[in-house]
Amino acid sequence: MKVLSGIQPTGRFHWGNYFGAIRQYIDLQVNEQAFYFIADYHALTTVRNPADLRLYTREAAVDLLSLGLDPARATLFRQSDIPEVTELTWLLMTVTQMHLLDKCHAFKDKKAKGLAADVGLFTYPVLMAADILLYDSDVVPVGADQIQHIEVTRDIAGRFNQIYEVEALKLPSPHVVESTAKVVGLDGEKMSKSYGNTIELFEEPKKLRKRIMSIKTDSKGVEDVKDPETCNIFTLYKLFANSDQQAALAAKYRAGGMGYGEAKQALYDAAMEAFAPARAKREEFEKSPGTVEDILQDGARRAREVGRVVLDRVRSACGL
Ligand code: ADP
Ligand code: TRP
Repeated sequence: MKVLSGIQPTGRFHWGNYFGAIRQYIDLQVNEQAFYFIADYHALTTVRNPADLRLYTREAAVDLLSLGLDPARATLFRQSDIPEVTELTWLLMTVTQMHLLDKCHAFKDKKAKGLAADVGLFTYPVLMAADILLYDSDVVPVGADQIQHIEVTRDIAGRFNQIYEVEALKLPSPHVVESTAKVVGLDGEKMSKSYGNTIELFEEPKKLRKRIMSIKTDSKGVEDVKDPETCNIFTLYKLFANSDQQAALAAKYRAGGMGYGEAKQALYDAAMEAFAPARAKREEFEKSPGTVEDILQDGARRAREVGRVVLDRVRSACGL
């Protein structure tokens, strides 16, 4: 079974990205043939500064590798290193009905806000379909927000096969990652770059501590009895702690005599411990930037080998 997923380099990764997506992608590399890529073409619809795009793309690769993505098991590549994907996008666009894209949320939301959307954003799901179909992917692990795009991919592939009376494209299934659903941010809302409430995975320790100390709580004093279940700090702590550790901290909340500062410190310690191996690996990668580039180039070579075969099948099916 072939697993494929992509992640956009639109900023530095945060806890929401890790617990909601990256961790599950990495777990899947163990049993399945896995293809993962950094969706820099997609990021162009939002990141307009070339230096930022280069930085985020590189950092995304280093982050994924440091978090455990193993290039010996999974193929990791940059979307823009695969010219076949843009060629397939065009071929797919010729069979994609406008109404399918009209209802896709990225474009629809922007339009609803009265903002000018460009064609790139409108056709974004077709590029995503090409990403998936180019490698005969069976399963696509994604967060719930991306299921719509997998359905569009299946529609496009089905229509292509039907029009040309072939089985040139393989219909993928979504695999909704069993995440802790929604990771909350500093303010208790969904953690997201667009809300400015994120905690970055590899934030420098001093800044990380400061960030954690700024998590919003109610105004209860040290002595007051507190409710862990309604507290943002505790909600985040659960991401890192086992059930005994959770029970111990919850008991302190309920007993009174513990200030929120102490809970924040516990969260900071737990996060530092959880990501210590990844931080150490990251330092190693930082020392040899050539290694990361080699991994990406090697991944691109492997991905293109697979993609070329599928693209030839599609070209031939439509008479090219
Ligand atoms: P952001 O909202 O910060 O721009 P992205 O949309 O780039 O994040 O997220 C990339 C992936 O990370 C998404 O597919 C989603 O599944 C996951 N993700 C992002 N934020 C969260 C969150 N707060 N909780 C759970 N998963 C998240
Ligand atoms: N659109 C996805 C996101 O924003 C990223 C992505 C691009 C993707 N191409 C993909 C995910 C192909 C899975 C498969 O999260």
